[in-house]
Amino acid sequence: MYNKIQFVKSASSIKHLPDNRLPEIVLCGRSNVGKSSFINSFFRRKDIAKTSSSPGKTRTLNYYLVDEKFYLVDLPGFGYAKVSKKEREEWQKLIEDYMMNSGHILQAFHFIDSRHEPTKLDQMLNEFLRQLEIPCSFILTKVDKLKQSEFARSKKNIKSSFKEADPDKNVIYYSSVNGNGRKDVINTLNQIV
Ligand code: GTP
Ligand code: MG
Repeated sequence: MYNKIQFVKSASSIKHLPDNRLPEIVLCGRSNVGKSSFINSFFRRKDIAKTSSSPGKTRTLNYYLVDEKFYLVDLPGFGYAKVSKKEREEWQKLIEDYMMNSGHILQAFHFIDSRHEPTKLDQMLNEFLRQLEIPCSFILTKVDKLKQSEFARSKKNIKSSFKEADPDKNVIYYSSVNGNGRKDVINTLNQIV
């Protein structure tokens, strides 16, 4: 399970989604939190997904087929200040169009950098997913960089920021560097796919 991943396509508009419609798990969240790195590390592929230390790397909807059963859809991040307002609005429109119209989204993985408090943009994303009735799991990334005290604080922050967040159920602490949280992701996938 979860050992075969193929890149299918990049779509810059919802007119270009794959013809072969399958269930989709969507990777969303702010820029630079580690969405694309998650794909590489989870599937132990060095760079099937393009990543970068500077935000704004992913700019299209990127479809990856897993075990020929479902898609992971890697989205552009939001909140990246350095792109033009026009470009930011285009990405936002692409993400919203996609989420409203796909009709195949099983679940969203909302990625948040565990070192930082969720922002207003995270709240907006959460609200949007709720409106669309898309179930959500929270993936707290870069946990390899956390000290024990920061870890406890992060858990508190998540619980107080999102009323449905439950560390025993839908919050995963993940590291693309040391494989932390991998088992929890597998358990979550087993439940939803
Ligand atoms: P956008 O495509 O701009 O939305 O960003 P993204 O969320 O896809 O982030 P990306 O995977 O490109 O990673 C951003 C940076 O964070 C890169 O320099 C990664 O190496 C780093 N990074 C990602 N995950 C981890 C992690 O678990 N631990 C550490 N230490 N660094 C990470
Ligand atoms: Mg990316």
